[in-house]
Amino acid sequence: MKHTIYSPFDMHIHFRQEEMLRLIAPLSAKTFAGGVIMPNLIPPIDNAEHLLQYQSEIYEAVNGYDFTPFMTLFFRSYSERELLEIKDKIIGIKLYPAGATTNSDAGVKEMSKAEGTFALMEEMGIRLLVHGETHGFVMDREKEFISIYDYLAKKFPRLHIVMEHITTKEAVDFLDRYENVTATVTLQHLLITLDDVIGGYMNPHLFCKPIAKRYEDREALLEAALKAHPKLCFGSDSAPHPIHKKECCGCAAGVFTAPIALQVLTDLFEKNNSLENLQNFVSDNAIKNYSLTKSNKNVTLVKEPFKVPSQYGNVVPMYADGELNWSILSVQ
Ligand code: DOR
Ligand code: ZN
Repeated sequence: MKHTIYSPFDMHIHFRQEEMLRLIAPLSAKTFAGGVIMPNLIPPIDNAEHLLQYQSEIYEAVNGYDFTPFMTLFFRSYSERELLEIKDKIIGIKLYPAGATTNSDAGVKEMSKAEGTFALMEEMGIRLLVHGETHGFVMDREKEFISIYDYLAKKFPRLHIVMEHITTKEAVDFLDRYENVTATVTLQHLLITLDDVIGGYMNPHLFCKPIAKRYEDREALLEAALKAHPKLCFGSDSAPHPIHKKECCGCAAGVFTAPIALQVLTDLFEKNNSLENLQNFVSDNAIKNYSLTKSNKNVTLVKEPFKVPSQYGNVVPMYADGELNWSILSVQ
C-alpha cells in the first residue's frame, strides 16, 4: 500500500543554531516542502540583520533540498519603521510569555504594553504566532490563556492570530469562535497524554511545553486533526535538545519528531480511516491559512516497517528504537 502527500508543510519547527542546525535542518528538509522556523535562539531573532543571517545559515544547512524556511521574528515592541523593513521577509512574529519555555526570558511580561505593536501588525497584515500559556498550574496554563486569546481576537479583529501547539479541548472549541484565529497542533499531542510522560516511568523525551494533557483533550485534538478542521494545521514543534539536556535533572522541554512525522501521521490517519484528510492537514490547510504557494515536492510513503534510529547525532527522537508501520518510499 502506498500514499502520496503533495507539498507537506510543517508550520512550527525548531532548527537551532550551528552544529545542531546542520544536523537537524536536513532531516526536515528531506521530506517537507517548507516550514515555519522558530526564533527562540540565543540571542532571540529580533532584528532584520539577525533574521537574514539565520535564514542564509538555514539555506546552507539544507543545501541540496528544495525547502522553504518561513522565518519568524521574536516578539518585542517594534517601531513602524522596523516592521516595514521586515514584513515581507517573515511569515509572522512569535510571542512568548516571558519565561514560558526554552529561551523565552526576553518574552512579553505585560500584554497591555504590547498593544502598540499588535495594532501596527494588524495594520500591516503581519501575523501573530502565540505560545499560549500562562504561569499558572501546569495543567491549566493553556486553558487560562484562552481569555487572553479572546481579548486579542476581539480587540484586533484583522490580526491573524495563530494559537501554536494547542493541547486542550478548550483550544479546539475556541477555534470556531473568531474568524481571525487559527491553530497548529503537534504530532505528540495527537498521540500521548500526561500518562505517557509521567504516569509510569518518567519519559524525558516526551516532556515538552505545553505538557501533554488529559485523554479528553487528546480526543478533541485528534478528532479535529482527523477531519482536517480547516483552521488547524500540522506544526510538529519538533524541538531537538542534546541527550545530556534531556536525560538529566532539569530536563529541557521538547520532543524531536521531524524525521518520523510523516510516517507516524500516515499511520495515525490510516488507522482512523481518515487517510483522505491527511493532505489537508499537512498541506492544503496551511496553504489557505498562510497564503502559501504549493511546492512541487511530493512524498510517497509505503506501508513497510521503518526502524527508528536510537539517535540522530546526539538527539533522541520520539519512538527511538521502535518500529513504524510506514516508511518514506520516495521524494519527488
Ligand atoms: O517543548 C518545547 N520546546 N516547547 C516550546 O515552546 C519550545 C521548545 C524548544 O525550543 O525547545
Ligand atoms: Zn515551539
